[in-house]
Amino acid sequence: MQKFDVVIVGAGAAGLFCAGVAGQLGLKVLVLDHSEKVAEKIRISGGGRCNFTNLDVTAANFLSENPRFAKSALSRYTPRDFITLLQKHQIAFHEKHKGQLFCDRSAEDIINLLLAECAQGGVQGWQPCSLKAVRFHAGADLPYTLDTSQGEVGCKAVVIATGGLSIPKIGASDLGYRVAKQFDLPVVATRPALVPLTFDEAAWAPFAQLSGLSLPVEIATGAKKDSMQFREDLLFTHRGLSGPGVLQISSYWKEGSSIRLNLVPDTALADYLQQAKATSRKRIANELAALLPSRLADTWVAQGAALGQNWDRAVNEASDKALLLLAERINRWELTPTGTEGYRKAEVTAGGVDTKVLSSQTMESRQPGLYFIGEVVDVTGWLGGYNFQWAWASAFACAQGLAARLQQPG
Ligand code: FDA
Repeated sequence: MQKFDVVIVGAGAAGLFCAGVAGQLGLKVLVLDHSEKVAEKIRISGGGRCNFTNLDVTAANFLSENPRFAKSALSRYTPRDFITLLQKHQIAFHEKHKGQLFCDRSAEDIINLLLAECAQGGVQGWQPCSLKAVRFHAGADLPYTLDTSQGEVGCKAVVIATGGLSIPKIGASDLGYRVAKQFDLPVVATRPALVPLTFDEAAWAPFAQLSGLSLPVEIATGAKKDSMQFREDLLFTHRGLSGPGVLQISSYWKEGSSIRLNLVPDTALADYLQQAKATSRKRIANELAALLPSRLADTWVAQGAALGQNWDRAVNEASDKALLLLAERINRWELTPTGTEGYRKAEVTAGGVDTKVLSSQTMESRQPGLYFIGEVVDVTGWLGGYNFQWAWASAFACAQGLAARLQQPG
């Protein structure tokens, strides 16, 4: 049987980063992954350029049953710390939008950085290697035995870094949740997040032809103190809505509830149309086309028929009431998705190992020596580099915790 201080299951963002830090702190570390290639999600992230962090990270950018849980780890490993690491490896990067940092060259740079840090820490990597069983022997020198496809391994601590359920075709699995359940650790129900929303086929038919069209919007869901709002781009698809704004709101959307869209967030449309009525003879669709893509303006005007309205006419011929109704609809388009595109298209998985059984300082669970980091934990970031920052921060907290625990004298 091979022996290690720590075995990390999952060589993705959190697992590789934790392995490198723990190895450099003097621990003997094995990281194993069932995929042929490590860190596939980093490779495909950010359109191949990896949005590896965000300049402006607070716990408010994350969803969790316990919104305060992420605070400690996020404050002990910040975006600045990761930027310093990038600079050490001479990786060029740029800010794209709203504090989002991307590699200039390729996401491969981040993978190479993580592998170099692991090499510096003397970390062993096994892949493809699958984990068949985890056994715990209380009081033993090496309390954990892992049955793997490359033989039996003994260790003092196990770190689960197997990520979420999104994109099963590149290696996502439910192993992390199964290990949690084996040790009686609760798991908050999982669901696809940062995911496109879908609509009833018949109801969506008039908008399906807009597929590929994108525009900046304000998008909201929920009521009163539970309501959440983003100002981002919206993208029409054949089956529904996508784009950054929709991905953000999807994490907060609850099945059966509606979303609200303001398609012209910078314009009080009722006033705009009233003014147009007084001064213009253009068709309503043409007036709208000054504010919206013209294909969308045409589609909206055609929607009037279903509401008993004739919006397909000159603006100065429409009644005040008709223009008001049109303006209200465009400034506050309320629609109820029937579902999401699911884990096949979701960027992340919301829910996961319940933070109430994890230490926010070290990520150790109430099962001694068993740690959970990264996306497998019930901490889900917004779109924009927040999920990788959580991977780095939770991995760093864990590595520090492991070193403190395993290197105690005696
Ligand atoms: P991650 O998924 O990275 O790693 C888990 C590892 O565990 C994988 O290597 C997997 O093979 C392995 N594993 C799973 N089951 C196993 C088993 N049974 N046995 C052994 N190994 C197993 N975030 C962000 O901040 N910026 C971005 O630009 C993007 N972009 C993006 C694009 C796309 C298309 C997706 C799908 C996701 C993103 N994300 C993102 C999200 C981000 O990729 C994600 O949150 C992190 O990779 C999570 O890091 P983890 O290490 O927790 O899991």
